[in-house]
Amino acid sequence: MYLILALVGTLVIAALGYMGGSLTGLRMLFGVVIPYAAIAIFLVGMACRVIGWTLAPVPFRITTTCGQQKSLPWIKAGWLESPYTTLGVIARMALEVLLFRSLFRNTKAELRQGPKLTFGESKFLWLGALAFHWSFLFIFLRHLRFFMDPVPAFVAGMESVDGFFQIGAPVLYVTDLVILAALAYLALRRLLDSQIRYISLFTDYFALFLLLGLAVSGVLMRYFTRVNIVEVKQLAMGLVTFSPVMPPGPAPLFFMHLIFFCALIAYLPFSKLVHMGGVFLSPTRNLANNNRMKRHMNPWNAPVAVHTYQEWEDEFRDKLTACGLPLERQ
Ligand code: HEM
Repeated sequence: MYLILALVGTLVIAALGYMGGSLTGLRMLFGVVIPYAAIAIFLVGMACRVIGWTLAPVPFRITTTCGQQKSLPWIKAGWLESPYTTLGVIARMALEVLLFRSLFRNTKAELRQGPKLTFGESKFLWLGALAFHWSFLFIFLRHLRFFMDPVPAFVAGMESVDGFFQIGAPVLYVTDLVILAALAYLALRRLLDSQIRYISLFTDYFALFLLLGLAVSGVLMRYFTRVNIVEVKQLAMGLVTFSPVMPPGPAPLFFMHLIFFCALIAYLPFSKLVHMGGVFLSPTRNLANNNRMKRHMNPWNAPVAVHTYQEWEDEFRDKLTACGLPLERQ
């Protein structure tokens, strides 16, 4: 059911985009109004999420670790697995964000003959996720050529690295092949593996289909149907400089691509894709695990009238002495 809903939602977005690009009267709406609205939803939505996360109380260090915590000097602590300094936290976070280190340790459980539950290594998800995220980042940065004038040198550099594989014209970008292969793997894994299908929700399918729609429409535009890049740049520059213009040319497929982009960023703050920002604000990752080195007091503890052992001993000192019981303080 979720799968069908997500598929229908994606196809409706594609059809709307194509229609918006085909009808002259709707081009301004689809090329200018909707992109601005989507960016506004994205910014406000992300700001609300980030504010929500920063306001969540974190009175204790709840770092997730898989290493020895820093305690006594003669016990060797794991500075990366259980970071107890800010540098350790930064190093672990960097490895997590750039290389998905925790996903590298992903395992799979299978019921084999017997029946016997077996656990094994599973590196394909890590590889697929890494391939997808890195190629997405590369493509995203390469797209800056539409939004910046002059085009920064690093974008031109990325284009030549990405296109090293040139076969004819237009130059074939390796990241286009990688993103399509990675997205196909991630989608097939979700559709064909019954365990994953069982836990998949609408949001899982929808995000995946939007990304697929975005990548496929982009690839079609570049290698098969062609689009007037000069006009696209005119439109993009108009949008970023807040003086929007609507050139007559861009093909309907371009509008489909643009609407997929708008749908993706407007949906992002409300979907699981928000992990993009969430990882940095996750208290299980961004805090040093120094619970045994430092005493952390809950800042909201209400003052409590306590009766210490010392006070109790003083109160009953004569009775304790009379009974011959040992005293802590003579
Ligand atoms: C993060 C969001 C986006 C993704 C993942 C994406 C993805 C892609 C991909 C995979 C291609 C194939 C060629 C290439 O890799 O350059 C492409 C082409 C294209 N994209 Fe995007 N795109 C995004 C956003 C946008 C936006 C906002 C625009 C609006 C200006 C746009 C305009 C284009 C155009 C005009 C092409 C054809 C380029 C050519 O013919 O060389 N894309 N896109």
